Amino acid sequence: MPENSAMAAFVAELPKVELHVHLVGSASPATVARLARRHPGSGVPTDLTELREFFTFRDFDHFLTVYWAVQSLITTSADIHDLVVGLAADLSAQRCRYAEVTVTPYNHVLDGLSGDALLEGLASGRNAAATEHGVDLAWCFDIPGEKGTTAGRETLIFALRNRPDGLVSFGLGGPEIGVGRALFEPFFTAAREAGLHSVPHAGETSGPATVWSAIHDLGAERIGHGTSSAADPALLAYLAEHRIPLEVCPTSNVRTRQVESVAAHPVRRLLDHGVLVTLNTDDPPMFGATLNGEYLTVAECLGLTRTELVALAGNAVRASFLQDTRKEALLAELASVG
Ligand code: ADE
Ligand code: ZN
Repeated sequence: MPENSAMAAFVAELPKVELHVHLVGSASPATVARLARRHPGSGVPTDLTELREFFTFRDFDHFLTVYWAVQSLITTSADIHDLVVGLAADLSAQRCRYAEVTVTPYNHVLDGLSGDALLEGLASGRNAAATEHGVDLAWCFDIPGEKGTTAGRETLIFALRNRPDGLVSFGLGGPEIGVGRALFEPFFTAAREAGLHSVPHAGETSGPATVWSAIHDLGAERIGHGTSSAADPALLAYLAEHRIPLEVCPTSNVRTRQVESVAAHPVRRLLDHGVLVTLNTDDPPMFGATLNGEYLTVAECLGLTRTELVALAGNAVRASFLQDTRKEALLAELASVG
């Protein structure tokens, strides 16, 4: 077997967890095309070839525009159920046992899905994910940063009033430029006091100051992306010392044109400075990414050994919000593969 297919087989065998995937961005092209057929005039293609073109992004803002167009097609609890089960099927096929999935209630409600319908679809989808696909799902409810403090307040109220099974964390997504993390401090403080973990995006599309702000103002326990941390040696040292994991999404950063290529991605520098790096997909079909693919491409670009890949998979288990007993079981399983 050629070395890269041997490595692909090894990656496929690894039990994995995914810590940074958006529910809307996990919709398969077939699902997006089907939803688009139901909404003629939405501007989202109904043809798979055209969809591939539609998912070619000029820059990060263009990506967000496309993402929001897809999001607007989701209008029923059955849509949410189907997305959740579709994601679970994709994860299960890659030996991914557990995922923390980002959901943006405020945007769904603006797009005409009731809060109750969203919760119903999440609950039924999560049950089916476990029973039909053997994948455990947890939720991160995140604030769409571009909609400001109103979205912050509403997301907090929705999360704490409903507190669905599986809700583990509170996030902040969307653009970073012009959307300071500190604006959302009161909502993160309240969410943390209520027992939710803090996992904002930071340092994906702006510099290390945003990551510092996520840590100091939002009490970030993990950072969504955090890529630009690599430019600040003091921040690298802080992340390593305080064991604040980064949810690194290399293909996403290439496809939104934040970095030139996976080879040019600072993931090597992050690892060299002892940062707890985890590998994730973000919005997999939109970026042509898979969880196995992220491990494989990073292994190839960085010349990682199998032992180093097992360590990366272990980082994600340790950085997850799973219970300790479940973490230990997964780590033991990983040790037996490695
Ligand atoms: N929403 C969906 N994908 C996102 C990303 N990569 N960054 C910020 N917000 C997002
Ligand atoms: Zn993201």
